[in-house]
Amino acid sequence: MQGIGVYDSGLGGLTVLRELKRCFPKEKFIYFADTAHLPYGTKSLDQIRSYGQGAGRHFQEAGVKALVVACNTATGAALDLLRDQMPCPVLGVIEPGAKAAHQASKNKKYALLATQSTIDRGLYQAYLKDLDPRAQVYGLACPQMVLAVEDGLADHYIGRKIVWEYLDQLPADYDTLILGCTHFPLAQKAVEDYFKQKKRQVKVIDPAIQTCLDLAETVKMEEGKTGKTNYYTSGEKTLFKEKLEKIFGERVRVGNWDF
Ligand code: DGL
Repeated sequence: MQGIGVYDSGLGGLTVLRELKRCFPKEKFIYFADTAHLPYGTKSLDQIRSYGQGAGRHFQEAGVKALVVACNTATGAALDLLRDQMPCPVLGVIEPGAKAAHQASKNKKYALLATQSTIDRGLYQAYLKDLDPRAQVYGLACPQMVLAVEDGLADHYIGRKIVWEYLDQLPADYDTLILGCTHFPLAQKAVEDYFKQKKRQVKVIDPAIQTCLDLAETVKMEEGKTGKTNYYTSGEKTLFKEKLEKIFGERVRVGNWDF
């Protein structure tokens, strides 16, 4: 078995891959973006579970030694199923994200920006309450943020406006904000600028960092090799390749996984 599988509905999981590559530069990664079925956040539980199963079959064939479900929505809906299906360790991003948020927060009031599916599944809320029964979570579904990131508009004034309008809808007493969708760290600058402008001290949590720490405790990482990443998509290859090259500033190869 070799390589770490990284799975998302689209570009969001790249924010987790970015952290994984920084922590484990010699490791091999296999990234799969299920862009044919994006967005996941507005789909039914059964649909997301069946996408998860399809992705799992490909990762199984690829023989990965661990799978990171770098998608909060797929973690919430299909982590149990992928854990049953895969012969290797499978990690999600929600439990690590909740752990990191709990450690960062003093008043145990959290804002959770996520997809509708993640909010409805309630896993962040449950983990945070387990860690401290006082936990209060303001969940906000932000579907337009997913689309803005996929369209490369996170840094554009249109993306900024979308982010700020969402943040305006939340009460102002939380001290920790969870980027509970892996697309959202790509809009982190807009989030942080909002708090600067409001003169508020809010900790912004990207669950990817704690996920890397948890992964390092779970599997043995590759040493002494040059890490490389293979990219696959279930959707249109050329467009996905263009988006990746724009983000990384270098040429990448993209293959197709269909299901
Ligand atoms: N990036 C995904 C997540 O973390 C979901 C985006 C979507 O497909 O709706 O939830």
